[in-house]
Amino acid sequence: MRKILKRTLIVLGVIFIGIQLYPVDRTNPPIDPEMTFQAKVNVPPHIDKLVRNSCYDCHSHETTWPWYSYVAPVSWLVASDVEEGRTILNFSNWDYSMFRSVGRLDQMAEEVYQDRMPLPNYLIVHPSAKLLAADKDSLLDWIEVVREEIMNPPEESDTTAQD
Ligand code: HEC
Repeated sequence: MRKILKRTLIVLGVIFIGIQLYPVDRTNPPIDPEMTFQAKVNVPPHIDKLVRNSCYDCHSHETTWPWYSYVAPVSWLVASDVEEGRTILNFSNWDYSMFRSVGRLDQMAEEVYQDRMPLPNYLIVHPSAKLLAADKDSLLDWIEVVREEIMNPPEESDTTAQD
């Protein structure tokens, strides 16, 4: 019985070491400052702070990779969340047309309103990223205002006409 246990542990240990060799992409690609969320959308400081704190690890190129993101198989889960997150919504590369930009903001409001984001498994290890009721309110209120701003940009005031 003891022998079987010992052998099982050895086999598991070998598998554990083996899976560490599988490469995981943990890169933070370079950021073009002219393409960020902040460059493209009028983001006030309290909203900036909020999304950085709760969303940036998966939806930007400024991911903080924690120690467990270096240990397989957890590393695979973290890397796949980041890859998928960046593909769907990327605050470091807000390369969206006006309608897509509004669409992304609407999706953000929906996900936050439904408590689907930040992802629940992320909140277990990052409890401070959880959005409080007040944070959700301010994010949702801001999205309502800024989406109108994007849809109806203020008319260019024509100063030469006043001549
Ligand atoms: C732990 C990583 C992680 C964090 C943190 C995170 N997201 Fe996500 N997000 C994902 C992943 C993965 C997907 C794609 C799969 C899914 O929809 O569950 C996604 C999808 C989305 C989508 C698209 C949903 C759709 O309509 O399909 C939106 C919008 C979004 N996230 C917004 C946010 C916002 C806003 C925050 C911060 C408040 C946030 N996310 C935090 C990983 C994350």
